[in-house]
Amino acid sequence: MSSAIINGKEIGQEIRGEVAIRVEALKKQGLTPGLAVILVGENPASKTYVANKQKSCEQIGMYSELIKLPAETTEENLLDQIRTLNEREDIHGILVQLPLPKHINEDEVIATISPEKDVDGFSPVSVGKMMLGQDTYLPCTPYGVMKLLEYSGIEVAGKHAVIVGRSHIVGKPMGQLLLQKDATVTYTHSKTPDLPSFTKQADIIIAAVGRANFITKEHVKEGAVVIDVGINRDENNKLCGDVNFADVDGIASHITPVPGGVGPMTITMLLSNTVQSAENVLARQTT
Ligand code: GUN
Repeated sequence: MSSAIINGKEIGQEIRGEVAIRVEALKKQGLTPGLAVILVGENPASKTYVANKQKSCEQIGMYSELIKLPAETTEENLLDQIRTLNEREDIHGILVQLPLPKHINEDEVIATISPEKDVDGFSPVSVGKMMLGQDTYLPCTPYGVMKLLEYSGIEVAGKHAVIVGRSHIVGKPMGQLLLQKDATVTYTHSKTPDLPSFTKQADIIIAAVGRANFITKEHVKEGAVVIDVGINRDENNKLCGDVNFADVDGIASHITPVPGGVGPMTITMLLSNTVQSAENVLARQTT
């Protein structure tokens, strides 16, 4: 029997419908949620991501603004742009598309974004609050994975989740969010010896290593839930995930496809975080 497909496109649409209703409610109160995206340089993948973010904002009635800076822009110029956006009342979310050119200190840039507008959830303040389980903006991809599990009726409490990959954007925060929902969490990564001995124990596998078709049936226990966060190109230049879908299909109980699994959820949660930020502005005004 085939594995059940977790359809991120459908779940993403459902959540975007809920977010669009919140946008309408804010607009009735005279507030249009606004997202500013800063793109430095000409990285083709980044350009595509940014265009998709803008289109999605417009589709649900939000304001979006793209600030394009040349690759040779100075760090000080970028920091100035962020400081200006921090002060602007019509902007509720600020996102600096990563990666940045080598001469710019990414940590410095992220730390300059006001935590109140850090809708990516990448700043040290946001990460610290997330670790402590405090109210904050959660990083969009792991947050989106939690929503996929929730909307698919997959119980997390008491399950063993094995994370493959330890990036700041996905792996590390993913483990924290699962831990907060009472999963037992194991982190693995590229230097973990005998990876299958770990992943074979998993009730939930989160594949976030950035290697095409890396997770195969030898990694997966019968009935495990397999979440594929990868976006890669295979040897035929075809879009594929970190999981060899055909190999794992029928062994996993549930699996996310690439494309159409985790991908659509990242932008969905970015929209949700930006709307939350605008709602927080109104809440601060009335208290
Ligand atoms: N580059 C790849 N993924 C992301 C993301 O989620 N946010 C930002 N800002 N840059 C990225």
